[in-house]
Amino acid sequence: MRVTIIGSGYVGLVAGACLAETGNEVVCADVSAPKVARLRAGDIPIYEPGLAELVTRNQSEGRLSFTTDVGAAIEHGKVVFIAVGTPPGEDGSADLQHVLGVADLIGRHMNETKLVVTKSTVPVGTAEKVRTAVRARTDLPFFVASNPEFLKEGAAIDDFMKPDRVVLGVDSDEARELLGDLYAPFVRTGNPVLYMDIPSAELTKYAANAMLASRISFMNQMADLCERVGADITSVRRGIGSDRRIGQAFLFPGPGYGGSCFPKDVQALVRTAGEFGVVPDLLEAVEAVNARQKQVLLRKVVEELGPSLAGREVGVWGLAFKAETDDMRESPAIPLVEGLLAAGATVRVHDPKAMEVARGLFGERVSWMSDPYEACHGADALVIVTEWLVYRTPDFGRIRGAMRRPLIIDGRNLYDPARMVALGFEYRSIGRAAVGASPS
Ligand SMILES: NC(=O)c1ccc[n+]([C@@H]2O[C@H](COP(=O)([O-])OP(=O)(O)OC[C@H]3O[C@@H](n4cnc5c(N)ncnc54)[C@H](O)[C@@H]3O)[C@@H](O)[C@H]2O)c1
Repeated sequence: MRVTIIGSGYVGLVAGACLAETGNEVVCADVSAPKVARLRAGDIPIYEPGLAELVTRNQSEGRLSFTTDVGAAIEHGKVVFIAVGTPPGEDGSADLQHVLGVADLIGRHMNETKLVVTKSTVPVGTAEKVRTAVRARTDLPFFVASNPEFLKEGAAIDDFMKPDRVVLGVDSDEARELLGDLYAPFVRTGNPVLYMDIPSAELTKYAANAMLASRISFMNQMADLCERVGADITSVRRGIGSDRRIGQAFLFPGPGYGGSCFPKDVQALVRTAGEFGVVPDLLEAVEAVNARQKQVLLRKVVEELGPSLAGREVGVWGLAFKAETDDMRESPAIPLVEGLLAAGATVRVHDPKAMEVARGLFGERVSWMSDPYEACHGADALVIVTEWLVYRTPDFGRIRGAMRRPLIIDGRNLYDPARMVALGFEYRSIGRAAVGASPS
């Protein structure tokens, strides 16, 4: 099938590469000329496991191409996906200017009957706005559909190739058939394609992210309580997760959720709820807990080293908002590093993949370490933000030997507290007792 994807970011690029892999002729368009130039040269602008191989192979075999000529790309596709960004506007609602700008362009370049699909995360009613914008520019018949994307950065290829489910909001047989054919190769093992009306599809995406964000905020609040009452969040997590009604997934406390989706999508859902007269108090609480949690690592550093960090050296392991991505959007590392710098600390950072992106945020205000152990050198504390595999079983002797004070503040509960005490560390984590003596 001839497929066009507009917007070649995380979602557009992964969708384009995966749809080319199943034999479609895919054209990916983006307004960013540097991004398109890099993609054409086989240089993938984001880190996503497996993506580079997929893009290179499909490009060299002629099923995948990249262009800045969005109009020509639109003319190519029988199915045109809109996968541009939907950043938060000033009031927190999703900013639809890119989506509707693309819809206008689709109308202008409508050269045959097409199916226009919103893949960007967009509020209820957006597909209708897209329909109106396209209709304003063409008399040719066309169809619209909503196909929200559920991929996780860091596991995006797997998620697209083997989705838990595919959600298709349709109001025509043509849309149902075209999208059914396109997704058939990805659901051969029986995972469901869920056809529904368009508003339900649009809302499903927000409901999924809001539910996941709620679980994280819930666990972070329980972790806070654990620390105060002398309970252990790991035991509590096991205790509730083994209840099949709750399940084990997504019950890990941490330094607060970040990334390009949860923060903006919860905010946008708050706006939608308010707009339609629903009091969004639960969602607001999820956000408030998260905002507080994003200060938790800085608070723990200050509790240990004092409010002024002048003359203190702090190592930071992990900058990306989660492992297996270089995405820094809304990462809890940002308030941590900014807070450390504002309090006068010298900061040494390491991340296996996100340092190039993070350099744009912190510049030369921090020291960039290509080796994690160098970040521990002379440090009064080592703070772990991201759960990269490479941090899971480090050489603790080397860490201990390099640090001025053997204090680890672990935002991901990577290590066993009893073991850390035995190794001579002062160890602080999330929702578990502080262990190892502080210097008097
Ligand atoms: N990143 C994720 O994990 C994820 C997962 C599911 C859904 N989503 C949703 O998918 C959408 C895209 O997210 P993303 O992370 O891929 O964003 P992104 O910022 O990585 O990519 C968006 C791309 O669109 C391009 N663009 C903007 N305006 C354009 C235009 N008028 N014409 C052509 N290209 C244009 C930008 O240059 C950019 O390359 C958002 O709505 C997001 O909420 C993201």
